[in-house]
Amino acid sequence: MRIDIITLFPEFFEGFKDHSIIGRAVKNGKIEIFVHNLRAQAKDSYGSVDDHPYGGGPGMVLRFDVLLDTLNIVKAQSSEHSPKSSPTCAGRQGSELKKPKVILMTPQGQVFKQKVALELAKEQNLILICGHYEGFDERIRDYVDQEISIGDYVLTGGELAAMVITDSVVRLLPGVLGDDMSSHDESHSPSASSGQVLLEYPQYTRPTEYEGKKVPEILLGGNHKEIDKWRHEQAIERTKSRRPDLLKQ
Ligand code: ADE
Repeated sequence: MRIDIITLFPEFFEGFKDHSIIGRAVKNGKIEIFVHNLRAQAKDSYGSVDDHPYGGGPGMVLRFDVLLDTLNIVKAQSSEHSPKSSPTCAGRQGSELKKPKVILMTPQGQVFKQKVALELAKEQNLILICGHYEGFDERIRDYVDQEISIGDYVLTGGELAAMVITDSVVRLLPGVLGDDMSSHDESHSPSASSGQVLLEYPQYTRPTEYEGKKVPEILLGGNHKEIDKWRHEQAIERTKSRRPDLLKQ
């Protein structure tokens, strides 16, 4: 998968791209991440990319021409990037090149859930546009495929949202998590057998007892059928008590 991020603050993504599981996925060629500075398309020598809103009001608005020119350049680069030029990229081998999916980060978008991450993980190219300041010129909305909000609160910009989406999508790609870190049985993922979404069962590791707190006996016995049953019951109990709304879906 290739992910292009359009932002006024490319430096926000430096640590994010280079470390931990995302950094390893980049190094192993499972994903490519390109970060593009909106300022490169500024329309004056001062590098300004925003302006006062027509009709008055507080703050500054990202200019439509700056956003659209950047998006068109990024789309062209993303399309030039054929599967052949990146044979190790997950999800590309032997398949047709799909159009990049353009996503706008906005608190007015569809609320981001694991189900949305699973859908996006099927794409080959994502282009994520981060807004900033008071927002962006409304006309850019006609050029995006999807609008996503990471929750019902307002951030100072879309950068954190773009990182949340990138992180949750990339970890779902084949070969990104090790075998011991499967993304199957975890919270918010639909069960393979029932499709039901449950919170994950509780996990324990050594020591078996510390400060009087013990690991449940059943996990130490090695009866995997019984362990699976216990875990499923725990997942249901946990979901009922913490997130009953998930059981109604
Ligand atoms: N930009 C500002 N707030 C946001 C949010 N909640 N989700 C996505 N992008 C945003």
